[in-house]
Amino acid sequence: MSVLTTNLSEKAIRLESEYGANNYHPLPVVLTKGKGVHVWDVEGKKYYDFLSAYSAVNQGHCHPRIIGAMMDQAHCLTLTSRAFYNDMLGRFEKYAAETFGYDKLLPMNTGAEAVETAIKVCRKWGYEKKGIPENEAQIIVCDNNFHGRTTTIISFSNDPVARDHFGPFTEGFIKIGYDSIRALEHALLEHKNIAGFLVEPIQGEAGVFVPSEGYLAKAKALCEKHNVLFIADEVQTGIGRTGKMLAVDHENVTPDILILGKALSGGAYPVSAVLANDSIMGVLNPGNHGSTFGGNPVAAAVGIAALEVIKEENLAENARRLGQLFRDELNKFIPNCDLVSQVRGKGLLNAILINDTEDSSTAWDICMALKENGLLAKPTHGNIIRFAPPLVITEEQLLDCVSIITRTLKEFRK
Ligand SMILES: Cc1ncc(COP(=O)(O)O)c(C=O)c1O
Repeated sequence: MSVLTTNLSEKAIRLESEYGANNYHPLPVVLTKGKGVHVWDVEGKKYYDFLSAYSAVNQGHCHPRIIGAMMDQAHCLTLTSRAFYNDMLGRFEKYAAETFGYDKLLPMNTGAEAVETAIKVCRKWGYEKKGIPENEAQIIVCDNNFHGRTTTIISFSNDPVARDHFGPFTEGFIKIGYDSIRALEHALLEHKNIAGFLVEPIQGEAGVFVPSEGYLAKAKALCEKHNVLFIADEVQTGIGRTGKMLAVDHENVTPDILILGKALSGGAYPVSAVLANDSIMGVLNPGNHGSTFGGNPVAAAVGIAALEVIKEENLAENARRLGQLFRDELNKFIPNCDLVSQVRGKGLLNAILINDTEDSSTAWDICMALKENGLLAKPTHGNIIRFAPPLVITEEQLLDCVSIITRTLKEFRK
């Protein structure tokens, strides 16, 4: 690498640290181009992207169909706000609502906004449909959840880094253990005024924690029994990532409220949404909720294209097949590798557990070594490395990545 090119990365990193807030700790790689499963840094080095912008880029970087839809729409009309109708939003609402089997869709931009929206809809339903006394509604959430980082959402996080010195917090949440039907049943019996149960079908940020088989179906049945809304946050797990269109589809569960984001745009644009049937979404009236950009025509065009790509290219099926292959290959390798204790996941949302303490830098150092070998991944919590490539990856590319990962682990010295 020449001195001149090294300076390009260094310059970009220096600029961010000088003028940007210090709220992220990125791997020191400066990307300038992406295509399919690959990204390129400013020095021209090519990498496999094994993060996919936290599962936003399921359809691959710069998918021509999505970019085409975005560009065509951008030349026509970009924003009306919801003060007026636009001729794209209804088309997106119909297409997405029919795709996921709901009466109604409420468009937002980011995942956290969609979670906030779901909380508001759930509470209003609790007061107006279930008859919960005003200001008494409770929502059950899970330990180690990640639903975003707004003030309300961090109110029910147990990550001190996300919470400390950001109080006072929003009330109305009851935290229980994840993957525990007993804990859910206990909370439902113990507390009055419960409006909803908010859950990630797989806890992505917590380290790709897959609950026991049957957990989601049993949780949904309990919610039905107690007249409590089952709210699935599929911002990270949805849109093909786990080998089905939704992670809840593995257990044939239909959430009362479904939250989507990230890959709803294929990473091209911030698009998120909340879906529910009329009996729930009908509690909202003009002025109750909104967003200047939510449901803008570009987002609508991008959202339709992003879902079409997932369906027409059978990306959920590709994630199912190649995810199994990935875990099988790593499971062959792990018994001979002291560094890794486990690979786990579903579809192409996977993680390896590094044999070291949570506060060690081993997982980070392995990610640095993977970067040198042409593959980008990031630790989640401490000693866990998530592997989530775009779902357009081919079998040949996946096996190439397995060999990069196993070679890196073999050569790695603490
Ligand atoms: C399950 C889940 N919900 C919500 C969010 C928040 O999404 P955003 O970063 O777009 O606000 C994330 C982000 O990683 C997520 O994984």
